[in-house]
Amino acid sequence: VAEPWNVNIHYDRTIDGHVPAGVRSVLEVGCGDGFLAARLARRVPEVVALDVDAPVLERAQARFPDAPVRWTHGDALTFEGRFDAVVSNAALHHFPDTRIALRRMRALVAPGGTLVVVGLARPGWRHLPWALTGSLLTAAVGSIRGKWEHSAPIVWPPRDTVAQLRGHVGAELPGATVSLLALGRVLIRWQAPSR
Ligand SMILES: C[S@@+](CC[C@H](N)C(=O)[O-])C[C@H]1O[C@@H](n2cnc3c(N)ncnc32)[C@H](O)[C@@H]1O
Repeated sequence: VAEPWNVNIHYDRTIDGHVPAGVRSVLEVGCGDGFLAARLARRVPEVVALDVDAPVLERAQARFPDAPVRWTHGDALTFEGRFDAVVSNAALHHFPDTRIALRRMRALVAPGGTLVVVGLARPGWRHLPWALTGSLLTAAVGSIRGKWEHSAPIVWPPRDTVAQLRGHVGAELPGATVSLLALGRVLIRWQAPSR
């Protein structure tokens, strides 16, 4: 069955591409409908998909009944564990405080592990051309592929501008890279020091 398309699902592939080969455990923060967790479970032995919203988690589990994913109801701010990789797509702006969320995600990464986050941010004046181009591209791809409406809770608009998000990342994830993606999302990558 062909995968449906929306910007979130589009960037699942990007996140997957930044999770190193050979990792043994991955935590997805805010898994929503479950596409990224199911994708990662094809190659990662332990995948924990965490979401604070029980109904969307049930729908994810029902959509991917055979995926070896540990669907877990809980809040990332209190969840405990250590994972070779922590990933998150379109969920960071749901947290009331971005720095606290990034700090929590960082704490869940094992030494030497990887954090990959695709997030949403408001453009501010400076990144308006990027945001406009992203909207046009998204509309164009959506008209070709057809847009699938995800069923997860929505928070809109994102609280942080791109510049603010960069500041939060700089403060909480030393050495992280922040890149602007073509369809109007922001990619954050960070590697934990190996002890
Ligand atoms: C916009 S949805 C994105 C879902 C999915 N990752 C995707 O790409 O379509 C954000 C998800 O984050 C979840 N979320 C928000 N706050 C959370 C928290 N504190 N802990 C765990 N999940 C959270 C929401 O319930 C929602 O399902």
